Amino acid sequence: MADKKVTLSVFTADVGGFVGHTSSHPEVLDAARETLASLGKGRIRDFQVLRCGDDLSLVMTHSMGVDDRGIHGLAWDTFLACRAVAEDLKLYATTRGMLDDFTGNIRCLGPGAAEMEFAERTSEPILIFLANKASIGAWNFPLFKIFADPFNTAGLISDPAMLNGFTFRVADLKEGLSIDLNTPEELHILLALAGSTSRYVITSVSRRTDGEVAAVVSSEKYDVHAGRIGACSEPALLVRCQSGFPAVGEVMEAFSFPWLVSGWMRYSHIGPVMPVPFYEANAARFDGPPRVISAGYQISDARLIGPHDMFDDPGFDETRRTANQAADYLRRHGPFQPHRLAPEELQYSSIPIILNKVKERFKKI
Ligand code: F6R
Ligand code: MG
Repeated sequence: MADKKVTLSVFTADVGGFVGHTSSHPEVLDAARETLASLGKGRIRDFQVLRCGDDLSLVMTHSMGVDDRGIHGLAWDTFLACRAVAEDLKLYATTRGMLDDFTGNIRCLGPGAAEMEFAERTSEPILIFLANKASIGAWNFPLFKIFADPFNTAGLISDPAMLNGFTFRVADLKEGLSIDLNTPEELHILLALAGSTSRYVITSVSRRTDGEVAAVVSSEKYDVHAGRIGACSEPALLVRCQSGFPAVGEVMEAFSFPWLVSGWMRYSHIGPVMPVPFYEANAARFDGPPRVISAGYQISDARLIGPHDMFDDPGFDETRRTANQAADYLRRHGPFQPHRLAPEELQYSSIPIILNKVKERFKKI
C-alpha cells in the first residue's frame, strides 16, 4: 500500500534576504534548483522552488513518507548550498534562519516542514500557501473558514463526503500537547482555542468520513533568537481540493478577507495578510504588510503539474486594497498596542536591554 502513496513535502527557510528582509535573490533560487536536480536524482520524483518575500521553499514529491531522514537531509543540504550563495553575495541575515548541525529532522532547526502522504486520486488538485512576515498561528483563521464555515464553503452542506465535517488537530505551543476536535459538533471549542493564535495552532485537518488528510501546516520552528522551540514565522499550508474536499474556489475564498496576524516589522506587530501574485511577494513597506502566495498544482503520478499563480486574479484586488487601508490605519498607532504586540507575545525584542539601562531609576509608587 505504502508504495502506491505519494508524499508531498514543502520545506521553507530563510537563508538570507535581498534587500534586507524584503525578497530573495535569483541566484539563491537557481542554487536551490541546481542542488535539488543533482542531489535529488533517484531520491525524489519531482521538485520545484518557490519563494515568498525572503523565504525560500522547496516543494518535493517522493515515496518515502513524512519525516524521512533522507528527504529532510536533502532539504537541509539544499538550504546549505543556498546559504553559501547568499553568503557570497553578502545577502542579509544568512545565519539567522538555520542552526548549524543537522540532526535527522529539519523541524526544530530553523526551517519549517509541511508534509502529507496520500494515495493519488484520479485527479489531485492541491494548493500550497506560503506566508511571509506572519507567525505560525496565521493559518488558524482561513483553516476554520475553509473546513468549518458553511458561509465560506458551500460544499460543507451540499457534498455528502463533507457533511460529517472535519477533524482539526490543534497544538498547544505552550504545553507541547495536541488535541483532536471534531466539527461541526465541537466548533465552539475549536474557536475558543484557535482564536488564541499565539498559543493554539491548527496543525492538520482530516475528513471525518474516511480519515483522509485534507490539510497540513508547518507547525514547529526553532526560535533562534529565544533559543527554544516555538511559534516562529513563515508557515506553509498544503490543502487538497475538490471531490469530497472543499473546491479550489472555496479554499481561495477564505483568503478574500485580509485578516490580522502577528508578524510584520520585527515580528512585533499585527498587520493584515495581503494575498499577492508571486511577483508581488516582496515585503517592502515596514517589512510588510504580511504576504501570502498560493501555488496551485495538479499532482500527476507524483509529478508537480504547475504552479499556477492562484492570487494572480483581479478577484483579489479589493482584498489587497482593504489590506492597504488596514495597514494605513494600523501604522498610525506607531509603537502603541495593539499594533505593537504585547511584551509577552514578542518573539524577540531588545526592550529588556533598554529597560535594563533605566532600571535603577524606577522608584516605588
Ligand atoms: C525579519 C523581519 C524584519 C526584521 C527587521 C529588523 O524577517 O521580519 O522585520 O526583524 O528588518 O532586522 P534586523 O534586526 O536584522 O536589523
Ligand atoms: Mg524571513
